[in-house]
Amino acid sequence: MDGLIEKFKRDFKDKIGNRDLQEWARFLAQDDKTAFEVDHTGTLFKLYILYSYVKWPYLKIMTSLRETLHLKLIFIDLYAGNGLNMINSSEEIYVCGSALLALFGSYLLNNSRKHNGYFDHMIFTDKSAKSVELLERRCKIVLDELKEKSLTVSTSFSSNSNLVISKSDVSDPGFITSLTTWLDSIWSHHPLHVLLFIDPDRAANFKMETLAKLLRYPGDLFLLLHTDAFVEMVNKGRYLAETVKSMLGINDKELDDLYQLKKNKDIAEYYVKRFETVIKTTRIDKISKGANFREIIITTPINTGENVNYYLMYATRKTGGKDSEKWQEAFSALASEIGKMSEVGNTALEVLKGPQKTMHDFLFSDR
Ligand SMILES: C[S@@+](CC[C@H](N)C(=O)[O-])C[C@H]1O[C@@H](n2cnc3c(N)ncnc32)[C@H](O)[C@@H]1O
Repeated sequence: MDGLIEKFKRDFKDKIGNRDLQEWARFLAQDDKTAFEVDHTGTLFKLYILYSYVKWPYLKIMTSLRETLHLKLIFIDLYAGNGLNMINSSEEIYVCGSALLALFGSYLLNNSRKHNGYFDHMIFTDKSAKSVELLERRCKIVLDELKEKSLTVSTSFSSNSNLVISKSDVSDPGFITSLTTWLDSIWSHHPLHVLLFIDPDRAANFKMETLAKLLRYPGDLFLLLHTDAFVEMVNKGRYLAETVKSMLGINDKELDDLYQLKKNKDIAEYYVKRFETVIKTTRIDKISKGANFREIIITTPINTGENVNYYLMYATRKTGGKDSEKWQEAFSALASEIGKMSEVGNTALEVLKGPQKTMHDFLFSDR
């Protein structure tokens, strides 16, 4: 785990413009304190894994491939939030959210190389009007402060902007149709690579049908699964049958099989397996080389410190080649260590509180 801790330490110290990640979070909170509140540190690791992946290997390799393959690189964050999370609300520890972290990661990569290191498009959606407004404001503040004038921001898909920040409800089939129509129109002229980050606040807010529609596009997936919350809801009989069927894309017979399961462990396994099965069996369209299916799925438990786990699922396809092997090895190592790291979440959080805390405190303080 030492390598990962060193990386975590470096990443939180690295300057993006003239601020590190925590300085950015505090700076944005001074403008407006609104943040998505979480009372455990699992959030930190879910976000860190995204940030770390975007910088390396994802954009490093994909932006080089873009040069030769004329790819369009698209980041989609369906439950993007407002740009800030606040962990442990009594102490007000702000952490940048997924959308801003992906933007910061791409800024760093862009600055470290001669050719364009940005995604072609970043799509941030959330159903809350207030969150979307705030996220747009925060993205604009960040771009202004960084004096980054090359990226355009808009609230509409039709604009062809680099950043699209849109008030959309992922459960609305009309929205998914506009998103896929927009993706298809780009795909009819260029090969695509889509990095999907799907982080709903509860299990019932995401339908399997939506996932299957998005898995048709070449690209990688990060999906947050609220496994233990699902188990609890099933045990207490809180879901309507139709809700479970659409969450999992299952029929009546499969629903009966699920409700026959008595042990929490079996229900949790059913839930996670169901996502793995859909991911493994949904064909990626228009692939000319390598696998048509995402065969590599890594599921990492993220500990919330309250005996409630959620899981971060990552999926990609085998493409062969040296880069791809290195990429997958690096990611497997990162994923397995992130699980361990989330177990020491509360001490890791100390690092984020301020400059007086060092990684030494994190590693050697009493737990
Ligand atoms: C866990 S938070 C996301 C946090 C975000 N990834 C971040 O890092 O800051 C979940 C978000 O999903 C949004 N949401 C819930 N249901 C939604 C839906 N059906 N469509 C779009 N957004 C939704 C909520 O408004 C909330 O901001």
